Amino acid sequence: MKMPDSCFFIFTLLLGQLSITLGGKILVFPLDGSHWVNMKVIIEQLHARGHEITVLRPSDSWYIKEKSPLYTSVTLSCRGGFEENFETFLIRQLEVRLQIKPGNFWSNIWKRMEMQQVILDQFSQFHKKVGDLITYMFENEDLMQSLNASKYDMVLTDPGIGGGALLARRLKLPLVFNVRWTIQGEAHLLIAPSPLSYIPFTATELTDRMTFPQRLKNVLSYFMGMFTLSYISEPTYKPIVRRFFGPDVDYSTVFLDADIWLMRNDFVFEFPRPTVPNIIYIGGFQCKPSKSLPTDLEEFVQSSGDHGIIVMTLGTLVGNLPQDISEEIAAAFAQLPQKVIWRYTGQRPNSLGNNTLLVQWLPQNDLLGHSKTQVFITHGGTNGVQEAIYHGVPVVGLPLFFDQPDNLSRVKAKGAAVIVDIATVDRNIFKEALMTVIYNSTYRENMQTLSKLHRDQPMKPLDQAVFWIEYVIRHKGAQHLKTQGHKMSWFVYSSVDVFAALSAAVLLVICIWVSVVRLLWRKIFTQKKIKHQ
Ligand SMILES: *[C@@H]1O[C@H](CO)[C@@H](O)[C@H](O)[C@H]1NC(C)=O
Ligand SMILES: *[C@@H]1O[C@H](CO)[C@@H](O)[C@H](O)[C@H]1NC(C)=O
Ligand SMILES: *[C@@H]1O[C@H](CO)[C@@H](O)[C@H](O)[C@H]1NC(C)=O
Ligand SMILES: *[C@@H]1O[C@H](CO)[C@@H](O)[C@H](O)[C@H]1NC(C)=O
Repeated sequence: MKMPDSCFFIFTLLLGQLSITLGGKILVFPLDGSHWVNMKVIIEQLHARGHEITVLRPSDSWYIKEKSPLYTSVTLSCRGGFEENFETFLIRQLEVRLQIKPGNFWSNIWKRMEMQQVILDQFSQFHKKVGDLITYMFENEDLMQSLNASKYDMVLTDPGIGGGALLARRLKLPLVFNVRWTIQGEAHLLIAPSPLSYIPFTATELTDRMTFPQRLKNVLSYFMGMFTLSYISEPTYKPIVRRFFGPDVDYSTVFLDADIWLMRNDFVFEFPRPTVPNIIYIGGFQCKPSKSLPTDLEEFVQSSGDHGIIVMTLGTLVGNLPQDISEEIAAAFAQLPQKVIWRYTGQRPNSLGNNTLLVQWLPQNDLLGHSKTQVFITHGGTNGVQEAIYHGVPVVGLPLFFDQPDNLSRVKAKGAAVIVDIATVDRNIFKEALMTVIYNSTYRENMQTLSKLHRDQPMKPLDQAVFWIEYVIRHKGAQHLKTQGHKMSWFVYSSVDVFAALSAAVLLVICIWVSVVRLLWRKIFTQKKIKHQ
């Protein structure tokens, strides 16, 4: 154990010294909200390695602080519109979601469409705001000149919004994505070969083994999904690309032309699939060893004895639930011998048992890393699933919206989670799910296997992310890793033109052959006729 440790120390020391001479200038165009929380993990590491970081933020930023020891910020006097309505949007989503109950097929389709519509409207509006922000930036000569004069080495962005990619193009800078979603959909589907026969499309909750009806659903979902996404983003970004980069530039490729894609994903979590050389998997980069708990919390945890504890949180945004659902959940908890720590900001449920502790905030990572934690109840958000995998804690999923059902269905497919439908959950169902995960050891064993696989990597995901960012700085991009695939039209990409040409050639040969045969035949026939006569 000693030897590798000291080697590692010297290695990091060397790397540290390297960075002093390397010290790049990085321009960050982030996406606000929970995505920023993750981006900041990378920024912290880059800062620690001596890079100079500048963050662009709209004046009404939500999570992105103006002042930070990690970076200098440039505040654009323009609104990004992220926080506005976001919480009411979530509440509306949840309301519609709760009405989707299994059984009433047609009404569910209607409800799902309604839910889609809410998302569509919100995202279209959101992109429109981003579009205004970009136009404001590009029209502001002083700003653009000062950005240009700063001579950044690269742009780091979350392609969930289009600003970073456009800015990099405008400033002719190398581009690195911190990505799972882009404005055009899941990243892999855009740049890596993705046969729909075994790659489930977003939000279908399918796995990599599909029956014929499931594959049918998958293909239909793909076409509908891709159409919807372009419907959301095209009206905003197409005119901007046209205006600032000319009519010859294909708007959709501008957003795919990054040098490196740092993918917040890995194959412990994701189904195996083809990939491309400039995708680097950094899933779980935000995970870190747990620290000890505050004394009062530790006392509570210890008081659970051999039964252990249950941890529940539905993320930072969803602090409470409709009262009837909270009552059912609280009642289920009350029937269990475990102790429960529940992040809940709503009204205290009447059925709350004395084994349940309601908190406004909880140290999620430290609780998940605690040896007494038996099960984690999560909505399937950014950090929850990855941290559960990292610490090997099995999951009861209560997905709400976006890609959360997908996230949880992957863990379920690996045998490490039970999923509960929030629209139909009652105390019995919930208790049953918890008992299954706690008392059937296969869930824990499967999760521990995932955890071991996740931790067994040559390089930590965060170091991997930093390495590739510095790689792009050192080599002024990674042009040699970019495939040409995304720059082609679909029929060139899938060689439809070649097949058409080949088919035409084959057809031509057949035609010639047939006419020759017919000609010969006729000749022989007429000669025979002549002879007979
Ligand atoms: C950026 O600065 C370079 C010189 O450093 C100059 O050649 C280039 O035209 C500038 N670009 C813009 C868009 O101002
Ligand atoms: C908690 O409630 C249970 C049953 O409702 C009871 O048996 C137990 O004594 C209570 N414990 C404490 C510490 O109040
Ligand atoms: C689903 O999980 C992925 C990978 O951990 C994460 O990037 C994504 O943000 C999660 N989705 C949501 C809605 O949090
Ligand atoms: C535990 O769960 C697994 C997977 O769902 C199932 O195959 C197995 O029969 C269960 N074991 C018991 C003892 O219920």
